[in-house]
Amino acid sequence: MDSHNFHSNDAVPEVKSIMQKEIFEQPAVVKKLFERCINTNDTVMLNLPLNINNIIISASGSSYNCAAIAAPLFRELLCIPCEYEYSSEFILQKNYFVTPETLFIFISQSGETSDTLQAIKKIKELGGKTLCITNAENSTLWNLSDYRILSDAGEEKSIASTKALCAQLFCMMLIILKIKFSKAQSIEKEIHALKRLPLYLERIIGDFDRFKIAAEMISKYRDIVILGNKTYYPVAKEGALKIKETSYLNVMAYPFGEFMHGHVAVLNERAIVIAIIDEENEESARRNLKKIRADYNPQIICISTVKDIDCGDFNIYIKTSKKIKAIFGALITLQLIACEIARILKKNPDKPKGLKKVVRD
Ligand code: AGP
Repeated sequence: MDSHNFHSNDAVPEVKSIMQKEIFEQPAVVKKLFERCINTNDTVMLNLPLNINNIIISASGSSYNCAAIAAPLFRELLCIPCEYEYSSEFILQKNYFVTPETLFIFISQSGETSDTLQAIKKIKELGGKTLCITNAENSTLWNLSDYRILSDAGEEKSIASTKALCAQLFCMMLIILKIKFSKAQSIEKEIHALKRLPLYLERIIGDFDRFKIAAEMISKYRDIVILGNKTYYPVAKEGALKIKETSYLNVMAYPFGEFMHGHVAVLNERAIVIAIIDEENEESARRNLKKIRADYNPQIICISTVKDIDCGDFNIYIKTSKKIKAIFGALITLQLIACEIARILKKNPDKPKGLKKVVRD
């Protein structure tokens, strides 16, 4: 087994797939990014355009989910508009809102996804400011971009993106902190949280035996619902994508409240619910889960930052009071559960049938 210094009493499993190996690499990936991009004075060392007051992001797949996770944080922490769109939809738009203060961000692990390349070319034709976050230096996207951030996750071989997504999200956090600092706002708390993120992720990974129990429960179903709110809704979507592309199960993700508007009827058929609960959505999540139990009584697994959460038939506590860390904690929990479901169902998560690592035309 690769040497990982996980802090837990539970034995961390023998690495059984490239996907699992790459998930385990995430603490080291974010530690390296922190040390490379934040100097000893806690200054974010990124080259970004100044006077940005509007962000528009174009990406696909997990890279899109990264954008969707970060967007609410741009709004909450910077109070600036931040829109995001699937690259395949972005390129169908009739017009684009290009201003000197708008930064167009393109996220792509490979830097070669055709949808995203078409998107940046459209914006460049209109004179828009472009920034890329990619894991591939000198990729087509890298060379087309005005500003560039290397996510530096190391080569990602598994088709299911995990460490690259984690690194992309860390880079989005760095962009937020750089802009926040440029507005003369303190970033001390966030820097403190990001500095402790590697240890936190190691602790989450060390809780592996609980993820095995959750995976065993989920692997008995063909239909799975993952529920989350605000930034945890795209986290739920990313978890759904991981399980779909590695175990070929039917996984749908919804915001908690919206799920109750008709979509919940899918629970009339046999399905399991995974609920992501934090302090902000606890009250509404409890209320909706109570209705779901009364009307459909599915099995429920909770992934929560709330101590002693008891809404689920099985509950996973991702202990932290810092939202920035909790987002990564929920992501890596869903990645590990997805990987374990594939192992139980005897699927090869590294080479899902019919998928390629880079989606070109
Ligand atoms: C992620 O697990 C998928 N393999 C896929 O959705 C991927 O994220 C998407 O094709 C985008 O790829 P990119 O980041 O290289 O642009």
